[in-house]
Amino acid sequence: MLDRIQSLVKPELDQLNALLKAELRSKIPLLNIITDYVLKTKGKQIRPILVLLTAKIFGETNRSTIIAGTMIELLHTATLVHDDVVDEAETRRGFASIFAKWKTKTAVLLGDFMLSRGLLVSIENNEIELLRMMSESVKEMSEGELLQLEKSKRLNIDEKKYFEIISKKTATLIKTSCKAGCYSVTKESPMVDLAAEMGYHIGMAFQIKDDLLDLSIDDIGKPRTNDIRESKMTLPLIYTLGKVSTYERIKIKGNMRLRSTNNKAIQYIVDTIHRNGGIEYSLQTMNEHAEAARNILAKFPQNQYNQAMRDIIDFTINRKY
Ligand code: IPE
Ligand code: IPE
Ligand code: MG
Ligand code: MG
Repeated sequence: MLDRIQSLVKPELDQLNALLKAELRSKIPLLNIITDYVLKTKGKQIRPILVLLTAKIFGETNRSTIIAGTMIELLHTATLVHDDVVDEAETRRGFASIFAKWKTKTAVLLGDFMLSRGLLVSIENNEIELLRMMSESVKEMSEGELLQLEKSKRLNIDEKKYFEIISKKTATLIKTSCKAGCYSVTKESPMVDLAAEMGYHIGMAFQIKDDLLDLSIDDIGKPRTNDIRESKMTLPLIYTLGKVSTYERIKIKGNMRLRSTNNKAIQYIVDTIHRNGGIEYSLQTMNEHAEAARNILAKFPQNQYNQAMRDIIDFTINRKY
């Protein structure tokens, strides 16, 4: 399904990837070796696709659209490089993570390089509004990751906090993708605001799906049950903790605190989530966000890009990786 959507925006996506490559060139040989590796292990590129589709729903893509997509993918990739350090994740996009291959120091510095390159793209192209949107998003993402880190130490997070965390760490950038895409072709503020709101809901659904994938049995290209190992409380678990007996709750939290790779301790948590409807509950919440996004989309011009956006919402909630 993703292939079909990618081919619909292929010329723009190619342009964007060429710019991405150019922006990552540096005079430091080690940096080029690592960024070549990053460029080879491309992800799904959902965010730039969202930028392009939102723009195309409202008009013709232009230089600003491509700049926005490039920036967003650069910043997204930078946050993944940092995230794998924080989460101690050995794999990413089906390959060894930068953290695993080059270790912490290099991963931190590479992430910094990519973040600053990302923001500079807007300066070089005189896109000040884009710079404002993106700087705000980067700030929100860091806050989200820090909030999560703090909460994982104490294992005391409720649904409200969880939504706040995922809104900051994930939905913000996806919201900005749709907002910037729309803004690049029309400055009409009701439409730009609606595009942002649609992006927010896609982003929320996207992260709930990601948290469900962490509990799946398929190969997802990155470590599974890593959230449990890292004491990260996600929606399926939060819901489950609210349903089980005091005994089970204490046992789950005790197992979480082990932070170990002890498969039995982890399996106990996964099984308890499954037994108590934690998966179904999260799927339902995810679907509500997808539906909210579709309802906004219905107000936009009806064309093949609107339909493709509908497809990408479906992809977001049905994907296997
Ligand atoms: C992973 O994002 C990080 C989250 C916000 C869940 P993606 O699943 O979009 O990562 P790539 O770029 O396709 O690898
Ligand atoms: C999303 O959270 C991370 C960022 C937004 C940077 P996760 O930690 O769940 O993402 P994955 O699962 O490692 O891709
Ligand atoms: Mg992670
Ligand atoms: Mg995850």
